[in-house]
Amino acid sequence: MNSIDIDVFSCEQMNELGVKLAANLPNGSVVALLGDLGAGKTTLVRGVAKGLHIDEVVQSPTFNIMKLYLKGDRPLIHIDAYRLADLDTDIGLDEYIGYETGLTMIEWPLFIEKLLPVNTLFIEITITGETSRHLHIYSKDESLLEVVK
Ligand SMILES: Nc1ncnc2c1ncn2[C@@H]1O[C@H](COP(=O)(O)OP(=O)(O)O)[C@@H](O)[C@H]1O
Ligand SMILES: [Mg+2]
Repeated sequence: MNSIDIDVFSCEQMNELGVKLAANLPNGSVVALLGDLGAGKTTLVRGVAKGLHIDEVVQSPTFNIMKLYLKGDRPLIHIDAYRLADLDTDIGLDEYIGYETGLTMIEWPLFIEKLLPVNTLFIEITITGETSRHLHIYSKDESLLEVVK
């Protein structure tokens, strides 16, 4: 699978990457965000929200599992699957993942791996310093990788 590696050195740079994703990802895209707590997954989603002109404050949806933002340029679906780890119940998330007119961003995606489409864009974030992060980005859909170049 082709991949791209990027280093960012500040929250602002992470934000800018989110804005770029918002501007260039096609409707229906699913982005899976991998990385430890504090890696910057939610920070990246905030960048996407900013790029989509969503005014609401984007928080980690851990307690909601999913939050829909419908007031921006196009819908943003923000999922945090952390609490679904041991849950083997179908809660209907598949209705929203890959929402055809918007973008889906998923934190802790491996807990709902079976629901991820084959063309998911994976962004694996590693903490490399206080404000620096390494991003390993891969997808079976090469056109999605072009977006982050
Ligand atoms: N380059 C960076 N990118 C993203 N977050 C950063 C960066 N540098 C520092 N941070 C800080 O790291 C934390 C990331 O938190 P958050 O985005 O909630 O992570 P996660 O959702 O992965 O748990 C925030 O406190 C943020 O300010
Ligand atoms: Mg988070």
